[in-house]
Amino acid sequence: MDSALDLLPSDLFAGRTVFVTGGGSGINFGIAQGFAHLGADLALCGRSAERLDAARRALVATSANVHTVAADVRDASALATAMEGAVDRLGRLDVLVCGAAGNFPAAAERISPNGFRSVVDIDLNGTFHACHAAFPALQASGGSIIAISAHQAQVPYAGQAHVCAAKAGVDQLVRTLALEWGRHGIRANAVAPGPVNGTEGVRRLLPGDHAERARKLVPLGRLAETSDIAAACVFLASPLAAFINGVVLDVDGGGGLGGSGPWNALVACAMQGNSDGD
Ligand code: COA
Ligand code: NAP
Repeated sequence: MDSALDLLPSDLFAGRTVFVTGGGSGINFGIAQGFAHLGADLALCGRSAERLDAARRALVATSANVHTVAADVRDASALATAMEGAVDRLGRLDVLVCGAAGNFPAAAERISPNGFRSVVDIDLNGTFHACHAAFPALQASGGSIIAISAHQAQVPYAGQAHVCAAKAGVDQLVRTLALEWGRHGIRANAVAPGPVNGTEGVRRLLPGDHAERARKLVPLGRLAETSDIAAACVFLASPLAAFINGVVLDVDGGGGLGGSGPWNALVACAMQGNSDGD
């Protein structure tokens, strides 16, 4: 894990429990690693038990206490059972990270109703299902929610009608929960990563040399690492952010400042499989 987290006390989250939807891979697994590095117990859910098992083994090797449970976030009742099981097993819930998501690049006219529904169901409804199921345990602990959003929530992207709609919904859900649940002692925030190196999202949206082209659009001159996203989540869940509620924090090296134009061109060109994205 990135040494930046070593600037924080290694027991910052000792005795705390973090539940991560979609925690078996990619950015969400990196977030789990970040919290584990600072002493948290982890609960991870996803659809593939095999993937979760591999993630659990990797985290346990770093001495973390990890519970995994296979559940589809689209199934509210299965997710509620999974969450209850995690709270029974680990004793409490302090942080909920809603990271499960689906994405494929496709022109709007080529997205079937079921394809659109699948992404909205996973990203938006799945986030609501997780927050809803976590409410009693978060109220009991005075905990917080972090939803994993994306730049697509704020600006339109070619080939991303389903994701733009779903993630925009996630941002508004987070703001609404912040408004409603603050009085219950629960904070709700979101993190919106820019493209993150080595992840499924980048493999799908920016294949081949398009990731390198994307790097050139970032003022800080590199793509994000999973540790950058983990650091932002750790901050938002920590006492340092005790009065931060209802924000969407861009963690993109300033890559979003240019608006949707250059990103649209890049994703559109990646979908066409050509290299005219400069
Ligand atoms: N282009 C157009 N439509 C696509 C598609 C693509 N590349 N990939 C899937 N779809 C459509 C399917 O055709 C199907 O619609 P249909 O029934 O009308 O044919 C619909 O999406 C659902 O596909 P299915 O594979 O049955 O869904 P699923 O529930 O098993 O998987 C997805 C959900 C499609 C989002 C899948 O990509 C997934 O599991 N993603 C998780 C990982 C991921 O996306 N990571 C990146 C996060 S940024
Ligand atoms: P990823 O590795 O594919 O992560 C998605 C995770 O969600 C997987 O572990 C997957 O596991 C799980 N998942 C998918 N559908 C699910 C469902 N129905 N129920 C439960 N779990 C489900 O992709 P990633 O690129 O790291 O993306 C992680 C998050 O970051 C997403 O929220 C994404 O929108 C966001 N994001 C990514 C980027 C990027 O550059 N990659 C940029 C901005 C935002 P199973 O398949 O086993 O279920």
